[in-house]
Amino acid sequence: MKKYARLIGGAVVAAVLNAPVALAADKREFVKLPDEIRDGVIVNMRDHLQTLLDLLKHLSEGDFEMAANAAETRIGLSSPASHSANYMAPLIPEEMRTIGTRMHTAASRFAERTRRGDLDQAYDALGVITAACTTCHYRYRIR
Ligand code: HEC
Repeated sequence: MKKYARLIGGAVVAAVLNAPVALAADKREFVKLPDEIRDGVIVNMRDHLQTLLDLLKHLSEGDFEMAANAAETRIGLSSPASHSANYMAPLIPEEMRTIGTRMHTAASRFAERTRRGDLDQAYDALGVITAACTTCHYRYRIR
């Protein structure tokens, strides 16, 4: 839990410190994707955000199996987003791929830990998921 708090704290500090820079000039690297793939990524992204909301809700209601399923099937290694990483791989920078893989892996880890009732470790994985979201958003744009 402590590490989770630190991760989130770090992300908040980074966001606050970087906000003026990000507003002054968009420093994100542009990654050009074919239109259909780009649109698919954006749709997946909206579902990722909805998934975070859903799994926080399930956790707060003690529905651990539901939280685990949402994370695994919508962000984890068995999600469509993770499978599409195969054809995305040659189109995106290696570091972007690494961040994506970190997110999918952390979501599967979150699911596994939530299922076995290890909430402290599950929150830790949740911190890694959200850190991957913010890191990638800070570095890349596709439109
Ligand atoms: C590997 C990179 C990467 C990761 C990881 C990532 N995103 Fe994104 N996301 C992007 C990019 C690139 C965009 C589009 C930015 C742009 O060009 O406007 C985006 C856009 C979005 C949008 C805007 C969608 C819209 O309708 O405009 C949301 C919401 C979003 N992401 C949520 C998330 C959430 C939540 C996570 C983590 C669970 C996440 N993303 C993880 C790369 C990533």
